[in-house]
Amino acid sequence: MELSDQAALTSGSAFWKTTAAGDVPAITLTDGPHGVRLQSSAADMLAGRPATCFPPAVASGSTWDPELLRRMGEALGDECRAMDVQVLLGPGINLKRTPLGGRNFEYFSEDPILTGVLATEWVRGLQSRGVGASLKHFAVNSQETDRMTISADVDERTLRELYLRAFQRVVTQAQPWTIMCAYNKINGAYASQDPWLLTEVLRDEWGFEGLVVSDWGAVVDRVLAVDAGLDLAMPGPDDTGDLEVASAVRENRLPAEVLERAVARVRDLVAKSLRNKQTDGYDAEAHHTLARDIAARGIVLLKNDDDVLPLRAGQSLAVLGEFARTPRYQGGGSSQITPTRLDDALTSLTATTAAPVRFAPGYRTDSATPDEPLLAEAAALAADSDVAVVFVGLTHETEGADRTHLDLPLSHIELIARVSAANPRTVVVLSNGAVVRTSPWDASVPALVEAWLLGQAGGSAIADVLSGRVNPSGRLAETIPLKLSDHPSYLDFPGEGGHVRYGEGLHVGYRGFDAREQPVSYPFGFGLSYTTFSYGPATALATPEGVEITVPVTNTGSRDGREVVQAYVRVPDSRVRRAPRELKAFANVLIPAGSTSTVKLFVSREDLAYWDTRLAGWVVEEARYTFAIGASSRDPRTTVFVEVPGSPGWRWPLTASSTVAEWLADPTGASLLREAFAVDSPLTSMAGDDGPFELLSGMPLNRLGTFPGSPLTPETVAKLVEQANG
Ligand code: BGC
Repeated sequence: MELSDQAALTSGSAFWKTTAAGDVPAITLTDGPHGVRLQSSAADMLAGRPATCFPPAVASGSTWDPELLRRMGEALGDECRAMDVQVLLGPGINLKRTPLGGRNFEYFSEDPILTGVLATEWVRGLQSRGVGASLKHFAVNSQETDRMTISADVDERTLRELYLRAFQRVVTQAQPWTIMCAYNKINGAYASQDPWLLTEVLRDEWGFEGLVVSDWGAVVDRVLAVDAGLDLAMPGPDDTGDLEVASAVRENRLPAEVLERAVARVRDLVAKSLRNKQTDGYDAEAHHTLARDIAARGIVLLKNDDDVLPLRAGQSLAVLGEFARTPRYQGGGSSQITPTRLDDALTSLTATTAAPVRFAPGYRTDSATPDEPLLAEAAALAADSDVAVVFVGLTHETEGADRTHLDLPLSHIELIARVSAANPRTVVVLSNGAVVRTSPWDASVPALVEAWLLGQAGGSAIADVLSGRVNPSGRLAETIPLKLSDHPSYLDFPGEGGHVRYGEGLHVGYRGFDAREQPVSYPFGFGLSYTTFSYGPATALATPEGVEITVPVTNTGSRDGREVVQAYVRVPDSRVRRAPRELKAFANVLIPAGSTSTVKLFVSREDLAYWDTRLAGWVVEEARYTFAIGASSRDPRTTVFVEVPGSPGWRWPLTASSTVAEWLADPTGASLLREAFAVDSPLTSMAGDDGPFELLSGMPLNRLGTFPGSPLTPETVAKLVEQANG
């Protein structure tokens, strides 16, 4: 193939098309992730052809149900085929580092295991239809402020254990056809031209076999990008960039085989896509029903005092708040879908209930200022009805902009106050793509339903849950803090001068709240049901593959229901810093009323491992691990201990510049050092009789040797090092 054709293949030919060159035809990529947004108008980049608007990740993530995500992936795959789309740009799996993140509605969770498990199934579902996924945004794209230039400065252990972990899981378990590199920099290097990220980690370590595509407009320097491992720069055309790539090869600034490799990956992606290309239709009705099922399962019941919910037959309802009639069901930006139809909660509730349903808008959506006549009308209806259901939330969330605070609009808070004062049986239904502050107003209402952004069938899904047709089983995939300043990310967001320091390190989300023993409004993993569950004692078994946990869970209520059984690990006395609780496994189980299920959870050794910075690798620490099994991160119901053998042969290396403490932490090192100190000298007397060596503990061995009277001459140190590592 001509060099110019090769170069052209590594950029797009249009906004959503790859380039056709030589014998390689073009394919279509499009957004993603919760629907197929195939651009329908040349004049409006965001307008798409009608497609099922499934629940955005904020809601599908709250289902904690990989099976549902797989079905959603399959349905999306069918719609892609029907629209002749070969790659769907999703899922978005960045961590919700801060509740202010402008794209939080597009991301699953603040936890990498939950994110990774769900996204793996989404990708498997989509790709089972012969359509490629594009795992995005690789990596650390957790804020919108300065998203195209900011450097996310993250230490390597945090990167590996938190921000890269879900990517690693999906890549190794589902091999997405493509992965999309992020706009931002990581520790100073643009993700789009970082050989460490795109080649060393992604391909050499994880074995990624697919193609790396840039986020739209992420590439600064095409030659550096190709050299780093980027295969396809989007969008296109980029004739200047193509020429630069070709000249770089001609002038030996870019190895020819590097470009050939990128071309081979484009060729491979196109071939895979075309093998599967088929433009059959899809069942829009069935997809709407699936969207409704997922939406209902993503709703989280946060509060339900006195069993106000489910609504009882015959109760008259005051439905208040414009969102009941005009739903907010997705966020703004590239993921915005033109739905095939749109359900609103008011119509669905009216259809579900035999008793009278009356509506008042309560606020205007174009202003946050409370409107007295609207408030008075709503309060009067509430006072005159058996139950008041108030729909409030955020009026606007979009890609491109982070939020600046966590609060609901003032007019919505005021509506809650007026309605709950008028009727003690007030249910608040929230519509929001990222968490909002619920304190202190939640104390004034008996029931609170977190209904997120639910996609096109959200209105029916809300009616399903309120009426009890669906027993709620959604769980929080992110913590709801009491206030913004409690959040672990608070002091280091959104950064300045082109850098954002991930100062909370490993303590992202609930890990940070738990480490600082801070109260929260609603913890990670939390969610109520219309039934209740009790847990029997868990048992755990260490196997060569990991840890198998078994726990009997009984539905003690009178309705069938789903429990999300969660396993959190703790390693007491760990040699490294760890969060007090880390989600390692979960199971979503349907348990009939009165029955007991034996729930099995499996934690692989990969998931138990931590990233050891000294060894620059994953290590399973030999220890007695504590698993708290329960209904949320703060609701352990049974605890089980298990001895887990360490990674074979792992040991921190001992060198002349390792400290006394490091030597003492190593059994061989400790006995050698104690032996060396078992001589009379002014220094050994300082070390104390039984040798806690406290005073000396921070000293590197080789510098200890410079102290008068030290038994550690350079020769002794060299010998110790040799013996310790021999
Ligand atoms: C977004 C991506 C999206 C792409 C194409 C970018 O601005 O970050 O998520 O897939 O545009 O629309």
